[in-house]
Amino acid sequence: MRHLMSPMDFDTNELDRLFDLATDIENNPAKYAHKCDGRILATCFYEPSTRTRLSFESAMLRLGGKVIGFSDANSSSAAKGESVSDTIRIISAYADICAMRHLKEGAPMVASQKSLIPVINAGDGGHQHPTQTLTDLLTIRNMKGHLDNFTIGLCGDLKFGRTVHSLIKALSRYENIRFIFISPEELRVPDYIIELLNEKKLPYKEVIRLEDEIANLDILYMTRVQKERFFNEEDYVRLKDFYVLNTDKLSLAKKDMLILHPLPRVNEIDVEVDDDPRAAYFKQARYGVYVRMALILTLLELC
Ligand code: NCD
Repeated sequence: MRHLMSPMDFDTNELDRLFDLATDIENNPAKYAHKCDGRILATCFYEPSTRTRLSFESAMLRLGGKVIGFSDANSSSAAKGESVSDTIRIISAYADICAMRHLKEGAPMVASQKSLIPVINAGDGGHQHPTQTLTDLLTIRNMKGHLDNFTIGLCGDLKFGRTVHSLIKALSRYENIRFIFISPEELRVPDYIIELLNEKKLPYKEVIRLEDEIANLDILYMTRVQKERFFNEEDYVRLKDFYVLNTDKLSLAKKDMLILHPLPRVNEIDVEVDDDPRAAYFKQARYGVYVRMALILTLLELC
C-alpha cells in the first residue's frame, strides 16, 4: 500500500506516468467515469480549504466513487481530544482512501503509519503540499511542454508557504532549473531547503525586489502571505502587501512568462492581470482535478 506524503514519494518516471494518465483523463473523461464505482474517499480536513478539498471530492465523484468527510476540526472528534492515529483507524473501516489536511506538520505522516488505507497529505502546516505540486508540475508540463530548462521565480511567503517547499523539492530533480527566490528578509526560504539545493549544487538566487528579476523569469510562482502562520498580527499587516503584481510590473516580463499561483489570492496579484494571456492560475486549478483523479486511481491500483 502506498501513501503520498511528499512529492518525492514518486520518482520522475512515476510522475510522468501520472501526468500522462491525468492528460488522458482530461481528453477521455467517459473512459474513467466508473473506475471507482463502489469506492469511498474520506476527506479529513482540520484546516480551511476550498480548492484542495473540493477538487478531491470532484475527482472521486467524476470517477464514479463516493465521498465522506469533515471540513472543520471542530465538527470532528478532534474537538473531543481524539488523536489522528485513532481517527485514521476508524476512517480505515469507513473508506478506501483518505485525503488529510492538518495544521500540524507531520500529522498526515503519523496517520499513514496507523492507516489500513492509502493516506494523501493534503497540506500539513507550513511543511508540504504534494498534491498542489502535482497540479503545478502538470500545469508547467502542459503549458511549457517540458519540466526542465527554465528559470522559475518564487515570490512572496517562501518561509511558511508549503506549496513553495514541495515545489522546490520536486523541481530539484529536473535538469537545468534555476531558482530565483523573491521575498522579504523575514519570509525567506527555510534553511533546510537551501541546504538541499546546496547539496545538489543547484543554482539559486535570493532577492527582495520582484522588478529586479522579473525580466529573467520563464515562470513566476506568486504566493499569498500565510496569515494563519504568523505569531503576531502586526508582522502580517506589515508584510501582506509587500508584493503586488500588476500590469506595470508585468510589462517588464517575457512575453511567454507563465504566471502561476496555488490560490487563494489576496492582494498579491491585481485582478487586472487576470486577462493577461500569461495568467495561468485559474487553468492551474482545473488541472488539480485531473491530477487528483490520476492519483486516486494510482494509489488504489485501478489503472
Ligand atoms: C494553498 C495551501 O493550502 O497551502 N492553497 C491550496 O491548497 N491551493 C496555498 C495557500 O493557502 O496560500
